[in-house]
Amino acid sequence: MSLVDARGVGLSYPERTVLRGVDLRVRAGELVSILGPSGSGKSTLLRILAGMLKPTSGQVFVDGTPLDGPRPDVALAFQDPCLLPWLSVERNVGFGLGFSRQSPLTRAERRGRVSAALDEVGLSHARSYMPSQLSGGMAQRAALARCLARQPRTLLLDEPFGALDEVTRADMQRLLLEVVRDTQAGTVLVTHDIDEALLVSDRVVLLGAQGTLIEQWRVTVPAPRAAQVHALGVLRIEILEALQASMAAGKTTA
Ligand SMILES: Nc1ncnc2c1ncn2[C@@H]1O[C@H](COP(=O)(O)OP(=O)(O)OP(=O)(O)O)[C@@H](O)[C@H]1O
Ligand SMILES: [Mg+2]
Repeated sequence: MSLVDARGVGLSYPERTVLRGVDLRVRAGELVSILGPSGSGKSTLLRILAGMLKPTSGQVFVDGTPLDGPRPDVALAFQDPCLLPWLSVERNVGFGLGFSRQSPLTRAERRGRVSAALDEVGLSHARSYMPSQLSGGMAQRAALARCLARQPRTLLLDEPFGALDEVTRADMQRLLLEVVRDTQAGTVLVTHDIDEALLVSDRVVLLGAQGTLIEQWRVTVPAPRAAQVHALGVLRIEILEALQASMAAGKTTA
């Protein structure tokens, strides 16, 4: 069964329609990347899947239940790590555990979750650092740990590695794959980077400029993919052409 099941999701503002009839299913342990032109509604779709925004048509089911607001088992991370500068890494990671709609955790449970999350992202040594003492990659690890502390079954990531240098980004991509494998979270990654999508995803979907999902590719090249540029090359060209076509279509109808 799909963990996330978006059916015919649409979102219209009075002045414009952003999403139209989007169907998207994600299974536990599956990583789906969303590519699409700027303004095509990728972040909007993630906010809807996170229960932060209600679609104006269609419905989202999580674990078979209609989504009616944010849920503790669905975590969303943004491009900006959004760490609170006055709290240590540890307290940032634990922040929010007491607020979400979940059964209250004891202090020991909270501490246990924070430690496990910091461990998973390799930040245990920096638990008492302040955000100003972190590199960009460490800050993204902390943001990911904050999501993981909630023990999400669904992980939604909005261009989380966009601001990182190439080497750090490659590290984070490897970490993401480990996290998905270890937690079996159904994961949706919004990215601008076709290569990133090809490296980490089981499936790549393209959100067109008109706010509809226009194409999907299954990526079956086995890991580690970084060494298999040739196997991915054909798919890369196909996706790039589809993306260019959808951007061109967006321009003519804008
Ligand atoms: N409150 C709002 N009222 C009207 N339009 C909005 C509102 N919020 C977002 N939009 C519009 O929705 C569209 C989609 O925005 P969204 O942020 O989802 O795009 P995106 O695909 O994530 O773009 P990017 O790749 O640049 O991050 C944009 O054109 C934006 O202007
Ligand atoms: Mg966006």
